[in-house]
Amino acid sequence: MSDRSRRDFLRVSGLAAAGTAGGILTLRAGAAPTAASGSPAIARQVIDQFGEPPVTLTMKDGAKATPRAALGPFHVEGAPFRGKVSPPRAPGTVLVVTGRVWALDTRKPIAGAVIDLWHCDIHGNYANDAGDFRYRARIITSETGAYEYETIHPSRYQAGGDFRSPHIHYRIAAPGYHTLVTQLFFEGDAEHNDDSLFDASLMMPIVKKGEAGAEYEATEFDIVLTK
Ligand SMILES: [Fe+2]
Repeated sequence: MSDRSRRDFLRVSGLAAAGTAGGILTLRAGAAPTAASGSPAIARQVIDQFGEPPVTLTMKDGAKATPRAALGPFHVEGAPFRGKVSPPRAPGTVLVVTGRVWALDTRKPIAGAVIDLWHCDIHGNYANDAGDFRYRARIITSETGAYEYETIHPSRYQAGGDFRSPHIHYRIAAPGYHTLVTQLFFEGDAEHNDDSLFDASLMMPIVKKGEAGAEYEATEFDIVLTK
């Protein structure tokens, strides 16, 4: 790409403005363009053969709007976009959460919804130091409204004299829909407390799974947004 066309691309895509606003990251001097692999013609053939998957999914009958739950005092703006939420080799039971974001009005999945999520570690502590985003992430839903992340099962913690049942905080935003603040809880959790702060429909069952000799937990949490 020539300097001229690069400038035009940056201007049209708005990246120039974003780069100025960030003002920190700069490609190292002397960096070469990433080499191409295979021919563009082959890539085109693959796309033509398989095409874009049609989104024919429909929300299950009887699904209701996901209830709200408290934002709590520990939300931090600006968490990184990533699917691995816990730090590498963090202590605790590995937990994989999957789900879809749905629209109550169309009963179709919402692509491009932004899920902001945060939770505490196995000692019940939130990472609250400036710039520390442990156990925090944002995720954008796929073309079929799906999301997935890996983390560790959070612990209960004490708040106002009572224990809060283990939970993961969610804030879900999508254009044209009300932003939803809620929490995910785990059905049958050993640390579950008699917690009246949330709706029972926010409790999801845990399934124990095994992979390469290691056990982990999996759960599904679908979210339904309203206009
Ligand atoms: Fe919390």
